[in-house]
Amino acid sequence: MIIKPDAVKARHIGEIIARIEREGFAIKGLRYLNLTTQQAESFYDIHTEKPFFRDLVNYMTSGPVVVGWLEHDGAIDKWRGVIGATDPKKAADGTIRALFGSSIENNAVHGSDSPENGIRETKFFFE
Ligand code: RTP
Ligand code: MG
Repeated sequence: MIIKPDAVKARHIGEIIARIEREGFAIKGLRYLNLTTQQAESFYDIHTEKPFFRDLVNYMTSGPVVVGWLEHDGAIDKWRGVIGATDPKKAADGTIRALFGSSIENNAVHGSDSPENGIRETKFFFE
């Protein structure tokens, strides 16, 4: 998972980490860092051809992020349920994006979308 720059700027790191623990995830790794343009482009390379790609890279490099390696049974579906839909306006009540996201782009957190990508993204940030 990633706590994105908008949520870091809005001082929601603590609440999001508390939620992660309340939901029963084991935190296997946690880092506070600034993504370089190259890292953001590579991390989101599946979206290279999307019209929002440049905005996404600019957003993800606009300030520090917190990257987490989380463990849970069925972690991908569990975390995507906790964060809610990509667009905070469509995210279910009480989900992290409904609580802390402000637009389809500035949506507070990232979640891997498959076990394969979860492994790839974890290796991206953790040894
Ligand atoms: P994420 O990868 O960050 O967890 O988000 P997601 O799976 O829910 O959504 P995805 O389609 O993978 O999009 C990645 C991120 O790009 C930004 N976005 N902007 N302007 C737009 O229409 C638009 N659509 C997506 C969001 O920050 C989204 O989380
Ligand atoms: Mg995605």
